[in-house]
Amino acid sequence: MVSIEELKEELKTILDDHRYIHSIGVMESCEKLAKNYNLSEEDTERLMRAGLMHDMAKHMSAEESIKYCEDNNLKVDYIESVLPSLLHGKIAADMCKKKYGFDDEMCEAIEFHTTGRMNMTIFDKILFCSDKTEERTRDYEDVEHYRATPYRDLDESIIEIIDYIIDDAVKNNRVFHELSAQTRNYLLLNRQK
Ligand SMILES: [Fe+2]
Ligand SMILES: [Fe+2]
Repeated sequence: MVSIEELKEELKTILDDHRYIHSIGVMESCEKLAKNYNLSEEDTERLMRAGLMHDMAKHMSAEESIKYCEDNNLKVDYIESVLPSLLHGKIAADMCKKKYGFDDEMCEAIEFHTTGRMNMTIFDKILFCSDKTEERTRDYEDVEHYRATPYRDLDESIIEIIDYIIDDAVKNNRVFHELSAQTRNYLLLNRQK
């Protein structure tokens, strides 16, 4: 499989500096959380690759994103058609599969890093939390609190992050993807007590 160093070199040519540094931060957070949850060395490396490349389509315009989905037979739902920036996870997953041979577990974590989904895998959960709490670029009120939670409880971290996203969307009169609401409800109802 393509090395992390090669992926970094390629990513540097695709993303601007801020997004590149964010990607490095996500990869580092994935590594720390994978170790915290005793993932094998091999799984940790696969998760780090997924973390590094999760935003590789973030630079694409709305038109480019829609066109990529049409050309590659990726389904675009109603909310995504209104907010095509939401497609960057789905597109990055497709690119990583075709270009670098990432497996399904890696690609699905990339695909759902923005919204979450019901019945998330450990890869999905760690990448989701890393994306919102990495240490290099994420900076918002109470970030230290949000950064600590995934080390204690991944499900609780996802719930509090989605609560924040929904709260922010409501306050600013913006839409949020229904998968986020489904993810939150699923975790609330199914998390281990
Ligand atoms: Fe993203
Ligand atoms: Fe991201």
